[in-house]
Amino acid sequence: MENEIIHIALFASGTGSNAGKIIEYFHLHPFIKVALVVSNNPDAPVLKISSGAGIGTLIISRERFFKGDAYIDVFHEKKIDFIVLAGFLWKVPLTLIRAYPGKIINIHPALLPKFGGKGMYGKHVHEAVLAAGEKISGITIHYVDEQYDHGKIIFQASCPVTKEDDANTLAEKIHQLEYHHFPPVIEKTIKNIVKTTGTHS
Ligand code: GRF
Repeated sequence: MENEIIHIALFASGTGSNAGKIIEYFHLHPFIKVALVVSNNPDAPVLKISSGAGIGTLIISRERFFKGDAYIDVFHEKKIDFIVLAGFLWKVPLTLIRAYPGKIINIHPALLPKFGGKGMYGKHVHEAVLAAGEKISGITIHYVDEQYDHGKIIFQASCPVTKEDDANTLAEKIHQLEYHHFPPVIEKTIKNIVKTTGTHS
């Protein structure tokens, strides 16, 4: 394993503020490198962040992602070892999950298993949390399986929901938790995989 670099592909559909924090965190890391940013949206602001950081990008098409080979050959060519979903809105196809078993993780802006599933993204999540009168919310980092927001949970952190909160203030609190925890949890998860398998391939 020594001298081997673990290459991450970051998948993001929108702003990419988490992607930006992850890129920053692993910049100069001794053996983990963000090698590729993947987006389904050619206008996604995340692409500016990645090109600013000199990281290659890949815009994927629905046709090839779902009905084709899910770009598995491209990821292998680019030596991608680990996939991180950071605000990626498409469901990951089974072919890709099978090509990267236990090596795809996602972050969800609530405490799963509550407030997850199809349609539960962005503000919809925070609105649902507020409408349910929850006193706490938080983040969940989990492995990706074939169902939305369903795979084994790796990490959770929580924050209070107050009477004054609206979807915007709650989103901001959640983002702060994400920025703080997501990069080191990615690092720890990769280190565990490397420790268990002895290699990343
Ligand atoms: C984050 O809140 C994340 O939990 C969810 O999508 C959001 C992405 O935000 N999966 P950003 O694009 O990183 O700002």
